[in-house]
Amino acid sequence: MPNLPAGQSSRYGDSQALSVVVLVSGTGTNLQAILDRFRGSPEVEVVGVASNKPDAPALARAKREDVPTETFARTSYGSRAERDEAMAQWIKARGAQLVVLAGYMEILSPRFVNQFQASVINIHPSLLPAFPGLNSIERAYSEGVAESGVTIHIVDEGVDTGPVIVQHAVRLRQGEGLHEFERRIHEVEHELLPAVVARFAKGRQKARKSPRNFAALRTRKSRRSTRSRAIASAR
Ligand code: GRF
Repeated sequence: MPNLPAGQSSRYGDSQALSVVVLVSGTGTNLQAILDRFRGSPEVEVVGVASNKPDAPALARAKREDVPTETFARTSYGSRAERDEAMAQWIKARGAQLVVLAGYMEILSPRFVNQFQASVINIHPSLLPAFPGLNSIERAYSEGVAESGVTIHIVDEGVDTGPVIVQHAVRLRQGEGLHEFERRIHEVEHELLPAVVARFAKGRQKARKSPRNFAALRTRKSRRSTRSRAIASAR
């Protein structure tokens, strides 16, 4: 994980935990999955949560857990690049080693992406490159796909592009409604995202092992409920 400092502040004594900053814009159920999974964990510490939306419900989830929060509204800065630079400085000051986009609904400027390189990951509710952008589940459903799913990938300068870390397919069941299809996709997200963060933490402990480690990522529950496929290495 290049270009990010070693973790600084740990609420749990030593600083062996992977320091993670989560960027959010909305409800924050994926943030909640991370907070729940790593509460009190010596492996991962959420050191900050930032949003472009001052009223994002996700911020309240962080505050409830005493995680420092900050808002970087686009309107408070002269340009998107300026806003992203301020956010980058805040992230670095938190000592973050991994930045997780969990429903962060703005495109990051090239400078932001380049300074964090492969240390920014995003979760997206489709099997990318299919259905990038907004309303991915609805669009997949209304096109009558046989399956959609979840992708977690390294962030690059594009919209929902960048090297895939893991993908997990969810088959559309016969007669299934959109609401249930969405629910099942979100369920996979809430399992997969903390699992990927845990893999980053493990990879770091194992002295920068290659992201090929992700090839082994497949939980028992996932195997039962949906079909796992197309797991590619990040870099
Ligand atoms: C998730 O579906 C995520 O994949 C997408 O935005 C949604 C965020 O949901 N990028 P939440 O705010 O985590 O509940």
